[in-house]
Amino acid sequence: MDVQEMQMAVSPKLMIKKDFLHIADSSSEELQDLLDLAMALKKEYFNGGNAPVLKGKALAMVFQKPSLRTRVSFEMAMQHLGGHALYLSPAEIGLGERESIADVARVLSGYVQGIMARVFSHEHLIELAEWASVPVINGLSDYNHPCQALADALTIQERFGTAKGLNVAYVGDGNNVAVSLMHICAKLGWNFAIANPIGYELASDAIEAAKQITCETGAEISFYNNPHEAVRGADVIYTDTWTSMGQEEETIQREEIFSSYQVNRQLVNEAKRDAIVMHCLPAHRNHELTDDVADGLQSVIFSQAHNRLHAQKAILARIFGVA
Ligand code: CP
Ligand code: NVA
Repeated sequence: MDVQEMQMAVSPKLMIKKDFLHIADSSSEELQDLLDLAMALKKEYFNGGNAPVLKGKALAMVFQKPSLRTRVSFEMAMQHLGGHALYLSPAEIGLGERESIADVARVLSGYVQGIMARVFSHEHLIELAEWASVPVINGLSDYNHPCQALADALTIQERFGTAKGLNVAYVGDGNNVAVSLMHICAKLGWNFAIANPIGYELASDAIEAAKQITCETGAEISFYNNPHEAVRGADVIYTDTWTSMGQEEETIQREEIFSSYQVNRQLVNEAKRDAIVMHCLPAHRNHELTDDVADGLQSVIFSQAHNRLHAQKAILARIFGVA
């Protein structure tokens, strides 16, 4: 029996492998270590290119939803590090429809050394990770978006350094991006304030997890309905779409409910003078974020997008055990 056959034969639940599914699964030290590695890989890349440490490694990229940043940044990250990425479109695999998730996980585990998946249901991601004998990276689920949060933290640290006590204000829907942002803020000792309309709060288990983290790091988490209260004293103002992928039927209703949660010049002026404005993109311009703010001097939205490349190189290097 060769190594791959042995891996397939062993129950995946008994195997120790590194997945990257949830910010709360990593310690503060592990996250800072990933951020330091991301910064080092970014410097290396701009100083002549990365070493091909992922030579011979392949990453399957399974998508149930569209993507620009996640797809391209993971593919280029693998290429820069000497590895190979395979894009598997929503129509191609039919995860859980054409074939069961458990079967897809076990088949892919025999072909590639890692899987990155963007799914509708977070439960499906957990199932995929349980059955895969290779590491699984969360490329966004309905619950969270940890790769985005790591790139966001890298962007924040590039601007403000690694000091604790920064104030991060999130304005809008308590969605997947907000969950991971809250967790990484709590882990890194940054205060997190969120303003959302009633009925659009963060998931209660995500809030519980964040509160537990803050007991260790001393970060504060606060909840508002009024965006003006949330951004007072903020170093970072963050927003995301009011209608996430999969919620398209609610678009008209959400546009109405969220209309007073727009990040515009007036709201930005209520934060600290040197506050930065963040958005994970894609943005619905002049809905959750006005053009003048998105393209203004305080905006770091494209740095965030570009930092996905560097943050994910660090994740890949760690899960493949080469750094
Ligand atoms: N921010 C983000 O994940 O973008 P994509 O949906 O384009 O991947
Ligand atoms: N909340 C958004 C993020 C997109 C990157 C969504 O899930 O569609």
